[in-house]
Amino acid sequence: MSALDDAQKLNQLNQELKEFVRAGSDTRDREKSARRIKLCLDGLARNLGLGTGAVNMFGSFSNGFKTGTSDLDVLLAGNVHNESAISILQRFAANLESMDLGFTNITKIFQASVPLLKLTDKDSEMEVDFCVGNELGLRNSFLLNTYCKYDMRALELGRLVKEWAKKHELVGTTDGCLNSYAYMLLVVFYLQSLQPPVVPNLQLMECESYLVNDRKWGGEDMWETKFFTDVDSLPKSQNTMTIGELLPGFFHFYTRDFDWRHHAVCIRKQEPGKHVDKYSLLLLPTNEDQWYVEDPFDLKHNLAGKCSRAGKKRIMDEMANALSVLQKQGVWSKCLPAKPSSDFYMKCRISQSVTPPDILEAFEEFDLVKLHFPKSETSRMPQAFLQFGDASSRRRAHTKNETYIVDCKVQLHYSSFHGLAEALTQCPFSTYEMASYKMQRQVLEARVGKLQGTMGGPGFMPFENKVDPMRFQMPPPVDVRPPAHPFWAPPAPPARPPGLPAAAPAAPIPGRIPPPAPAVPPQVRGKNEKEEHRREIKNKPLAAARPKAPREATGQAWLYVELTDNFPKDKPKFSPEDAQNLKKLHAHFQQFSSSESKPPAEKTIYLSVPLTVDAKSGSGDPILDDETQQKLREILQGFPSPVSVT
Ligand code: UTP
Ligand code: MG
Repeated sequence: MSALDDAQKLNQLNQELKEFVRAGSDTRDREKSARRIKLCLDGLARNLGLGTGAVNMFGSFSNGFKTGTSDLDVLLAGNVHNESAISILQRFAANLESMDLGFTNITKIFQASVPLLKLTDKDSEMEVDFCVGNELGLRNSFLLNTYCKYDMRALELGRLVKEWAKKHELVGTTDGCLNSYAYMLLVVFYLQSLQPPVVPNLQLMECESYLVNDRKWGGEDMWETKFFTDVDSLPKSQNTMTIGELLPGFFHFYTRDFDWRHHAVCIRKQEPGKHVDKYSLLLLPTNEDQWYVEDPFDLKHNLAGKCSRAGKKRIMDEMANALSVLQKQGVWSKCLPAKPSSDFYMKCRISQSVTPPDILEAFEEFDLVKLHFPKSETSRMPQAFLQFGDASSRRRAHTKNETYIVDCKVQLHYSSFHGLAEALTQCPFSTYEMASYKMQRQVLEARVGKLQGTMGGPGFMPFENKVDPMRFQMPPPVDVRPPAHPFWAPPAPPARPPGLPAAAPAAPIPGRIPPPAPAVPPQVRGKNEKEEHRREIKNKPLAAARPKAPREATGQAWLYVELTDNFPKDKPKFSPEDAQNLKKLHAHFQQFSSSESKPPAEKTIYLSVPLTVDAKSGSGDPILDDETQQKLREILQGFPSPVSVT
């Protein structure tokens, strides 16, 4: 290719990049909303008697690297240290919940290095992160903004890199990547490293100390945050590279030039043509594999400390790909994914006692689409992945952060398909679909209702149409395989849902992929088999008529039976006679049940009952078979206590 062609290509790329940055910079509406939100929170702070504190913006709304998807970071600064940050945020949350100040999705994120409240501004739909006393955040935003002020190319390159990283889902420490702020440090460091540099080292240029007290994680550190601010007085950079050269240069630098094994990204110390030895940064232990991106003020913070092997590889691969596209084609739009991801993930660590139905129930109201649940035997503190169909459902679901599911206080983190893919390399997962779960629950509720209908009559103890959703048979999950990018391989055969009794067999699920040919009796008994089973049961005394190998047979399901004490008002408690009757009832139910059956004192009985497919209707619905219905009827007819069964 001729020099003329190259020059033309560079020209076009420069134009494309300028246009891209310009389009993303038109955030006047968002800025107006940001000012309104700041005023509103300021007013609330005063109402709460925090008059000496001032609400300030920080993060990308003040550091120059704002994009169309940036959240608004605000903090309450000033003399608020007599009260803990969490206590102040609690008071804010209580007021925001009780008064309509135009915010929704109020989410507490208190178990973090910087505790914060996440809010959605109803009017602008802008996300707001509100924290208290994070003066370091204010200072580092000011530092980045000063670099942008010194040379516009810092701002342009920063915005381009951030958009690129976000679009490729490379942002987020919980998925083993870097956060937005870290990418901006990478940009400044690269611009400092060029010869001649595009930006100077502002921290090295300042002499006057500016100490800031930092209380992250409840500790107390004093950090030097000095940097030179009067950039208008500095001579302009000698570097004449255009943004069309700097952008591929950035990707080249980090994929080819920078030695991640020995050097640190350290804007505090960097000078053109020099390296910062990562082992010289003595505050943090490190090794060859670990990337090192030092925070310019909080020297205990390596922003790459949570980068995983897979995360680093993805970042490097995407950078190398962007470099190759820019070098060969010179077209920026080809460096970005053609269409944005349509699945929205969140993940949380769960305790051993949390089961798939627990999570499905907890997130049903937030339109959870799928749950990817780790097979619990393989991981001690496993992570579950929640999949939503849109960003707003996921955001609403985030409000459950730090609430309890069973015994587990959940910490919800945004994740991505890649986060799930990486987790799959470490442990097998099962996938549950909310739609199947709901359908299965409806079917079982309807069946119990039908049973009630067929067993009704004078003096008959009714079944109420109620199935405890926590106990009923889960739809069989689909094993999830490590993905062949971007979608995973076809689902593997259903596996036992974790959390159910060890060998509880799967009930047939209408509309789902049937399980592979079982080694045990099939779901729908053959005519002869059914006849044989009928005879077997008929000829045995009731107490011995327990279904054959109930825990092995497919077509068995667990019903959760609760004994309710709907006694007459004048007889509010269990009499010894009632207790006796309960015991008897329990003993009777043993014929259906197995060792999991609970003692009657708990008023709860688990029944392992044979379910067959409703062959008559052809619907494929599971129903109680005739024998079981008949036996239940007999037992309940003979039971004299004022105790009903639901
Ligand atoms: P954000 O993650 O919101 O990043 O952190 P951002 O720079 O505003 O970028 P976008 O546009 O929203 O994606 C907000 C600010 O919190 C401080 C930085 O000041 C950052 O700009 N911060 C964040 C830290 O000091 N350390 C961190 O590890 C992360
Ligand atoms: Mg932000």
